[in-house]
Amino acid sequence: MSLIQKLLRRKSVQDLQNGGDDAAGPKLNKVLTARDVFFHGVAAIIGTGIFVLTGVAAHDHAGPGIILSFLLAGFACAFVSFAYAELSSMIPVSGSAYTYTYATLGEIFAWLIGWDLLLEYAVGASAVAVGWSAYLQNVMKALGLNLPQYLSHAPESVPWQAIFIAAAAITVGVIGLFKSRAALTGGAGLKTYVIGLGSAALAGFGLVNAWDVATHLTSVDLPAILIILFINFFLIKGVSHTAKMTAVFVMIKVAVIIFFVGVGIWHIDTTNYHPFLPFGWHGVFTGAAIVFFAYIGFDAVTTLAEECKDPQKDVPKGVIGSLIVCTVLYILVAAVMTGAMSYLLLGGSEIAAPMARVLDYLGYWWASPFVSIGAIAGITSVLIVLLFGQSRIMMRMAKDGLISPIFGNIHEKYRTPVWSIAIWGVLVALTAGLLPISELAELTNIGTLAAFVMVCAGVMILRVKEPERPRKFRCPDMPLVKPVGNFAVTCMTRMFGLKAQTEARLRSCVKGVAWMLIPILGAGMSMVFMFSLPGITWIRFFIWMGVGVVIYMFYGRVHSKLNKPENK
Ligand code: ALA
Repeated sequence: MSLIQKLLRRKSVQDLQNGGDDAAGPKLNKVLTARDVFFHGVAAIIGTGIFVLTGVAAHDHAGPGIILSFLLAGFACAFVSFAYAELSSMIPVSGSAYTYTYATLGEIFAWLIGWDLLLEYAVGASAVAVGWSAYLQNVMKALGLNLPQYLSHAPESVPWQAIFIAAAAITVGVIGLFKSRAALTGGAGLKTYVIGLGSAALAGFGLVNAWDVATHLTSVDLPAILIILFINFFLIKGVSHTAKMTAVFVMIKVAVIIFFVGVGIWHIDTTNYHPFLPFGWHGVFTGAAIVFFAYIGFDAVTTLAEECKDPQKDVPKGVIGSLIVCTVLYILVAAVMTGAMSYLLLGGSEIAAPMARVLDYLGYWWASPFVSIGAIAGITSVLIVLLFGQSRIMMRMAKDGLISPIFGNIHEKYRTPVWSIAIWGVLVALTAGLLPISELAELTNIGTLAAFVMVCAGVMILRVKEPERPRKFRCPDMPLVKPVGNFAVTCMTRMFGLKAQTEARLRSCVKGVAWMLIPILGAGMSMVFMFSLPGITWIRFFIWMGVGVVIYMFYGRVHSKLNKPENK
């Protein structure tokens, strides 16, 4: 097999439909119903985005046009959700976009998506935990309890370069020392002594850089760290516990949103909607790229496939249903927020709690703490789903041999991937405690959008390569595209006297576009949002993916299950 063939080897959809290579070992519990899946969807979607970012986006970028931003981002996510639903109805195993890409584009792309999904789930969870911490500190302040400054937020600046150098030097140094440990007991060859000394020097250099990092870490976001560790503890105990907990949190946050809309709608003053687009359409698009964060999570539902009783029906229903409900709620919140109060007043120091601010402004001061508590509950459930999804994707990748098997081990008693949850729990807690929300959120957005593009591409590829394969759900065809397209071709043929062959080609293009318009629109809109993110986010994204490629080339490519002789 050539290198290119190795990189592009695919899992067969048939194999995945038959349960793949998971025959041995304890299985995940198949306990979830369509209702649980729907709750997980809403639980994952409504969080920091609507409770924190709406105010910023309206004040700084879109004005009342934020309503259109939500609509736009909602449409993009709806197109992508159809693509997710189609793939999950064909490939009902956990792993989400990662698994779909493995079956469509090949192993290297699957690895890149799995690695990229770490940005969505792990980095996203860190960002959400920072929002959670901000709301908790608001409530604590109202009760007269203030955290010391050094425990309340991430440090002002984090020396990225020193972190990378320290991590790389210490890792390589320790591995080298481990390999040359024979030198310690004497009797080793000269080469071993040289490697041992070099490794010790490298590890020492790493420690000096680590000290430099430590001196910059003047503060830490303690609540963000604690909430991540707390949730991971529950995730280790098992999915049925978390499904019940999730349902309660969802009900609280939806009740808070309905309360906000129900109270605020009577105070809408249409003069607040003038001018409707103070920053023009450009502002609407920038706003959409920001509030896109509020929709992240609907795709996390697909990671539940292996734990559903009837995944091929439950997952599409859950994904699309939860997205529709959340889009309607978001548009209502945005309309009330910018209608009851001028968008100009949504800035300033209380920007982190725009809903509470509107209620205060309208004279419902007693309702603010209620909304804050609802926000804390809402954001908690987002954390649960993101951390849950994270561990499942890692588990899938471990089962495929692309990362260490330790991430795939399912605990005999709890039936959960304990190590995957614990290891990533600690890493996510550290990032949440040490990095600012804006950087985390932007990285999350770009990682998620890249995964969306791949999923839409996957739908198109499978439609062409395996058109006959049964799909319990299909992205619907766009109703008007075919007649309008054919009408245009007829007009062009008459006007320009096109040859019969050209006309036939154009008609088959129209058919293809009508057939695939939804994934095309999903991928196209995701790319537009990606390009509206800042350059520094792109640079970080490329660095992250570059590190991923190196790990794949040295570990995943070699240890992949598809590399085993019986699978060749
Ligand atoms: N959509 C999730 C939130 O807004 C990530 O918190």
